[in-house]
Amino acid sequence: MKERIAELRSEVDNFIIDGDAALEQYRIAFLSKKGKISLLFDDFRNVPPEAKRETGLLLNELKQIATERYNDFRERLAMTDTFQSTADLSMPAHPFGEGTRHPISIVRNEIIGIFSRIGFTVSEGPEIEDDNHVFTMLNFASDHPARDMQDTFYIEKKSGSESDPHDVLLRTHTSSVQVRVMENQKPPIRTISPGRVFRNEAVSARAHCIFHQVEGLYVAENVSFADLKQTLLYFATELFGEDVRIRLRPSFFPFTEPSAEMDISCNICGGKGCNVCKGTGWLELLGCGMVDPNVLEACGIDSSRYSGYAFGMGIERATMLKYGVNDLRLYFENDIRFLNQFRTEIL
Ligand code: PHE
Repeated sequence: MKERIAELRSEVDNFIIDGDAALEQYRIAFLSKKGKISLLFDDFRNVPPEAKRETGLLLNELKQIATERYNDFRERLAMTDTFQSTADLSMPAHPFGEGTRHPISIVRNEIIGIFSRIGFTVSEGPEIEDDNHVFTMLNFASDHPARDMQDTFYIEKKSGSESDPHDVLLRTHTSSVQVRVMENQKPPIRTISPGRVFRNEAVSARAHCIFHQVEGLYVAENVSFADLKQTLLYFATELFGEDVRIRLRPSFFPFTEPSAEMDISCNICGGKGCNVCKGTGWLELLGCGMVDPNVLEACGIDSSRYSGYAFGMGIERATMLKYGVNDLRLYFENDIRFLNQFRTEIL
């Protein structure tokens, strides 16, 4: 009997349990009613009385060890099961849908990327500004129509209908940021300022009271109009593709002289003329020019030594041209059917 117990003991120890099926086989072989250990208990009756005590102890010990081993493995297998179910890489992904970037953010980021590749930094400034940074330092005459209440949202007017450099208002363009940069930095300056701007306009498909701009500024020695043109050509081909052509038309802005407006060849018809470009083959994209010396001087930059160029565009407009969006209001309505169309863009 003692030998049988020792044999079974080593059988129990050597039984390989590597999964649920083996564990069940183990249970049946050793611990079930007809298992080898139970059979030994049946045989126990035949053990001579003087050996009963010692054999009984050994038998009980065997049963205890075999049961412990069983429980131990069962626990371990259960743990592996939970682990496997949380780490199952073939399970469907988390059910929360990812958001999409707004088209304005996509194009803004793209524009920032294009200019940062040629050394432009990004600068930001306040949306609530004073007249000085939005108009006066940018060479706007005191009776310039942009200063009219009909065009600008005023928060605080200092002296009735008169314009005053201390008037507090919502910036109408991000040129104000460039004024702040020029006030605080020495040339060479090469920066773009993206941001929200506000104009007192009735909301329609073509105009909105809030929109976004990116304006650019380069001030250094010997900056020429040719530099401006080359930079804008680089920008247009990066944003709209290699085949795009640009043209500059003379224009006027108080803060640049000479000034121009830049068109790109219509990317719908390729310049042949269609209803988007109204048959002209061209689409207006941005304003630009050489920084007026008065502006440089107002910001404490020596205009006899330094010159600069500036440009500015609406991001909504650039996005319209790039993606064929035909109504400005779509950008602000957050209609998921519109926004979802930009899912695949990851910028
Ligand atoms: N600030 C002008 C606007 O808001 C754009 C512009 C910037 C034009 C720089 C010329 C030079 O329309």
